[in-house]
Amino acid sequence: METCSDEIERARRLIAAASRIVVLTGAGISAESGVPTFRGAEGLWKQYRPEQLASPEAFVDNPCLVWEWYGWRRDKVAACQPNAAHLALARFALGHGKTLIVTQNVDGLHADAAREVAGDRDPAAALPVELHGNLFSLRCTACQHVWRDSTAIDASSLDTLPICPSCRGLARPHIVWFGESLDSGHVSRAFCEAELAAVCVVIGTSGVVQPAASIAAVTAQAGGEVIEINPDETPLTALSSVSIRSGAVAAVPPIFEGTSVSAPGRDS
Ligand code: OAD
Repeated sequence: METCSDEIERARRLIAAASRIVVLTGAGISAESGVPTFRGAEGLWKQYRPEQLASPEAFVDNPCLVWEWYGWRRDKVAACQPNAAHLALARFALGHGKTLIVTQNVDGLHADAAREVAGDRDPAAALPVELHGNLFSLRCTACQHVWRDSTAIDASSLDTLPICPSCRGLARPHIVWFGESLDSGHVSRAFCEAELAAVCVVIGTSGVVQPAASIAAVTAQAGGEVIEINPDETPLTALSSVSIRSGAVAAVPPIFEGTSVSAPGRDS
């Protein structure tokens, strides 16, 4: 049986040889920053599962409850920083230019890492495609205006919920909820890159929410390799040629730091 360090070395070599890389992340990459995952031990908020709160029906039924949950998540995330895994990925994507980070996370920590690592440079190459949106973006339920807001949420009554600055309609989180469509531009960018990528690295996702969970399958079907970093097995494990049973902070920096990258063109 291979040890974790053998698997890390195999992953490092695949990454070093790959011309294009797509990285799919989920809540697990932010767990060591202190952001609770959705389906782990801390995943339940009060007695609710995410599917019971992250839906248009839940918001119509009880907007205060849904906003209370998002207010709690916003407060948690506001106190968190990118960890060594976010930073190593950002450094690699900025230096390499052929890596697309695609995240299901709404915590903004990949973007924070990109800006931190870029300093005075343009962070664009390390900015992620945020498939499910961002906790600090709001959208008006009446006029659809979208804006950024990081002030504390008061969900104690309908009258205190956030409202639209232009039409005073009720605001909702600008997040893709269960039963809603993802931004088509984001989806096509992620899936095109998955098809071209020599390697798809899947970090910290349970792989049960579509369409994100299909990104690794697209790379595998096109002949690329899949590397999974997750302490637990998932439905994506069967697609993976390298499975690293470890937390992201221990595995991501050694894989992505210090690797040299070959010239463009599919290889693996
Ligand atoms: P989940 O909470 O479903 O899965 C988190 C995964 O991270 C699990 O497979 C864990 O084993 C793994 N994990 C835990 N700690 C880790 C660590 N330190 N390093 C690496 N992996 C670790 O989260 P997602 O798969 O991201 O959608 O959930 C997908 C979507 O479902 C979310 O984007 C969210 C949720 O409902 C919306 O809110 C729309």
